[in-house]
Amino acid sequence: MKILVTGGLGFIGSHTVVALQNKGYEVVIVDDLSNSSLSVLEGIVKITGKTPIFTKLDLKNKNHTSEFFRLHNDIHGVIHFAASKAVGESVENPLHYYENNINTLVYLLQNLSKLPYQNLIFSSSCTVYGQADELPITESAPVKKALSPYGNTKQIGEEIILDTCQSVPKFKSISLRYFNPVGAHPSAEIGELPIGTPQNLIPFITQTAAGKREQLSVFGDDYPTKDGTCIRDYIHVMDLAEAHIVALERLLSKNMNKNFEVFNVGTGKGNSVLEVIKTFEKVSGQKLNYKITGRRPGDVTEAFADTTKVNKELGWEAKFSLEDALESAWKWEQKQD
Ligand code: WQD
Repeated sequence: MKILVTGGLGFIGSHTVVALQNKGYEVVIVDDLSNSSLSVLEGIVKITGKTPIFTKLDLKNKNHTSEFFRLHNDIHGVIHFAASKAVGESVENPLHYYENNINTLVYLLQNLSKLPYQNLIFSSSCTVYGQADELPITESAPVKKALSPYGNTKQIGEEIILDTCQSVPKFKSISLRYFNPVGAHPSAEIGELPIGTPQNLIPFITQTAAGKREQLSVFGDDYPTKDGTCIRDYIHVMDLAEAHIVALERLLSKNMNKNFEVFNVGTGKGNSVLEVIKTFEKVSGQKLNYKITGRRPGDVTEAFADTTKVNKELGWEAKFSLEDALESAWKWEQKQD
């Protein structure tokens, strides 16, 4: 079966391509290379020995996107990662985010409706919950007003897909609301490749440990948590990739409760920033140079998943620990030049 992975050369996309190939799927990748590189394709082939079909495609270009689907009308399912995902950047440049995350989804759905199969996995985020009132966070937690245009594009994206599924019964879709994806493939052939200064905690930690960054700033230790720093649910990217395979097979087998389903994908455990630092120092065997600074605007205090639904209905649970994730991230960082 042929599966299209948009943004398949990105961090989560590339790990999902490896998992798909290992499961025997034929993979087609489209990526505009705006936030990834062709070296990732080499990494995928090194791991699986199989070369996915790759097309450089900007999904914002409606004609090019339609032309692509005319050539690939035998796709059984789509896993849609292609989007911009930096919270801070979205505040500075909201229209780029609405164009790149929403227009592309509409063109994708328009073309998908002309294919024999309409199966879509959507890459969403726990950001849609904002600061949840109750923890751990379930899928029935209210979707709050987004704290950033990035988060808003995930909320709007889910609404567009829901409306499409309600108007076109043959459309089936699962939205996976990720918590914090971290780590790298154990082979260290693929991993997270932040361009420029990393926005996210783990790549900033590993780059600091590697001497590429002077010092990690911990954004605030005056939060109402056990040690004053923010708590997040850090999920190994290998576990996250596997969740996409399980969700895809649920779509393909059509044993869904309704034709649009949402799942929180996390470990169900919360760790503070200081706990992550201590765990990293343990797995790397070296002290990390950090200082406490002011809070980062837009940060929520605490977010970690209630995994009951994804465990019971999807039959998936995270297998890797925070230590495994940090160990793999560090191994990956040490391979970078
Ligand atoms: C984690 C914690 C920071 C950097 C965002 C998006 C989410 C997903 C992952 C796309 C926070 C602290 C961070 C640093 C720090 N993105 N931190 N110093 O903000 O939870 O989630 O990225 O899919 O949708 O919302 O992740 O890694 O940026 O921050 O102290 O240099 O680490 O304050 O508490 P976040 P993060």
